Amino acid sequence: MPVTARQIVLARRPEGPVRAQDFALREQTLGAPAAGEVLVRNLWLSLDPYMRLFMAESGSIHGSVDLGAAMPGGAVGEVIVSASESLPVGTRVMSMAHGWRDHYLAPADQLQTVSAEVGPVQRFLGLYGLTGITAWGGIHGVLKPQPGETLFVNAAAGAVGSIAVQLAKRAGATVIASAGSDAKCAWVKQLGADHVVNYRREDLAARLAEFAPEGVAAAFDNVGGEQLEILIDAAARQGRIALCGAIALYDSANYRAGPRNLFATIEKHVTLTGFNAGFYFARAPEIIADLAAAEAAGALVSTETVIEGLEAMPQGFVDLMGGESRGKMLVRV
Ligand SMILES: NC(=O)c1ccc[n+]([C@@H]2O[C@H](COP(=O)([O-])OP(=O)(O)OC[C@H]3O[C@@H](n4cnc5c(N)ncnc54)[C@H](OP(=O)(O)O)[C@@H]3O)[C@@H](O)[C@H]2O)c1
Repeated sequence: MPVTARQIVLARRPEGPVRAQDFALREQTLGAPAAGEVLVRNLWLSLDPYMRLFMAESGSIHGSVDLGAAMPGGAVGEVIVSASESLPVGTRVMSMAHGWRDHYLAPADQLQTVSAEVGPVQRFLGLYGLTGITAWGGIHGVLKPQPGETLFVNAAAGAVGSIAVQLAKRAGATVIASAGSDAKCAWVKQLGADHVVNYRREDLAARLAEFAPEGVAAAFDNVGGEQLEILIDAAARQGRIALCGAIALYDSANYRAGPRNLFATIEKHVTLTGFNAGFYFARAPEIIADLAAAEAAGALVSTETVIEGLEAMPQGFVDLMGGESRGKMLVRV
């Protein structure tokens, strides 16, 4: 029996900040799955800043979405019709490509099964998915904080940042965190940050000098742009900076632009390490077990901001980029 699927497509390429009108809702009729395929009904969809990059014509390593094409992204759903022995009806599956839609057809071997045993299935888009693995990779793979070291995290009330703050605390670091409102800063402090800075209202460079007079030993940079320049200037001798993202540049014509004060890394022997969650996917079982153990021990809280319904997703994405969410932004279909 054919299914009418709804998808969010790219209606126009944003110039500057993304707007809900840059997207449109489209219906598509899906037939029965071919041999080896399954029909999936999505339950949860992920919203992530990297999606802004493939809305641009120039695209990114993630590619560029054609005008009129469905937006890709992460999704967790349930198999409702199966032509594959490996994924019977009722199996919960995750896809990193079939987000922004309520139903899709896909070859079974392109999907990953998810287990409800480690918690609610939407966790595989957050703490046990890209978000948690990124935070873990930046803290334990790149920065490796030592007890007592000063570690800074920006966008600290966001999905990756809020987990990174807690992992750094668990490792014994003294954590300085920044976010874009006083309410967010108060929440990040509840998560364990020792010092917080509302970068929209306060002078980030001055506050870092106050909280880390010897310089910042380790920094987890989600923001890039001018904040990365501040972090390079604030770095201690032989400091480390993990380059996770550059959201401050995603609306600009050149999100790849580098910092203007790189020479300071030579003067202070500072290490900048770009990293990518994909590099850690092979270690996902070990990382998820560690995150689950931290959560079970009460050392890690995973927070979600949930948007209801596919039609609300474009505005949800605008809100994510504008700083309206706390923790991981998800859409319940
Ligand atoms: N390397 C990887 O593999 C990888 C994987 C996942 C994510 N990332 C990157 O990690 C970063 C965080 O991603 P996420 O999924 O956790 O999103 P998120 O932090 O939940 O949401 C984005 C946050 O960025 C902040 N922000 C937006 N514009 C800003 C600006 N101009 N200056 C400073 N802060 C700004 C906002 O918080 P405020 O209210 O604090 O401004 C907003 O809440 C992004 O750069 C993303 O691309 C990288």
